[in-house]
Amino acid sequence: MLITFEGIDGAGKSTQVKKLRKALTESGREVLTIREPGGTDVAEKIREILLESKNEITPVGELLLFSASRAELVQQVIRPALAAKKVVIVDRFHDSTTAYQGYGRGLDREMLQRINDIATFGLKPDRTFFLDLSPEDALIRKFSEKSIPLAFEESELDRMERSGLDFYRRVRNGYLELAKREKTRFVMLDASEPPERIHRKIWQKLMAACNGEPVPESRAHR
Ligand SMILES: Nc1ncnc2c1ncn2[C@@H]1O[C@H](COP(=O)(O)OP(=O)(O)OP(=O)(O)O)[C@@H](O)[C@H]1O
Ligand SMILES: [Mg+2]
Repeated sequence: MLITFEGIDGAGKSTQVKKLRKALTESGREVLTIREPGGTDVAEKIREILLESKNEITPVGELLLFSASRAELVQQVIRPALAAKKVVIVDRFHDSTTAYQGYGRGLDREMLQRINDIATFGLKPDRTFFLDLSPEDALIRKFSEKSIPLAFEESELDRMERSGLDFYRRVRNGYLELAKREKTRFVMLDASEPPERIHRKIWQKLMAACNGEPVPESRAHR
């Protein structure tokens, strides 16, 4: 089973990936977690390029680098793990490309879909948990993570982050569109709820998706 997590930066994806990995492992399943870009030697190198020279890469170059990293990951890691019946959890997958490069940066979405199909070899997640959070709330989380006092930064934030906020609004709208289009695969969650509550919902949805199989014991039910 392939599970992906999506949402804007700071929505809580990594937090939920950790909780889900723990719950699934405790229920006796073999789990592999990966965060994109990365996951193979080559993909990690591509990640470094994307992070280091972030501002000098053109949107199409960025798109192709993300996609190259994904193609490596799918062939070398995800497919073999799925063949070995592992549960594979990926922190960001092809929907991030559609949301960020398509809706966020404005690249042609038909082209993106073709490139996504090439990079994933047509592999689709069984479930995609979309953690929906407003860009404003995500920003507050990020600032509190870095211990920047919000009260003092309020006006500064507006000046510095306005274009950032507009970008994240477009990305969020992109995710909302995707969720509307693929109602079964996408599970939309209110990411402003407490982490444990979100985790319980994810667990319930996942167990419902495993229809027929016995529901494994997990802390989530206690
Ligand atoms: N449901 C929640 N409520 C409040 N704070 C949360 C919640 N989930 C996560 N956080 C906090 O918000 C911050 C961002 O969470 P996390 O790193 O999981 O987000 P992310 O989606 O993985 O971000 P990124 O895209 O930047 O990797 C962390 O400080 C985390 O502890
Ligand atoms: Mg993360």
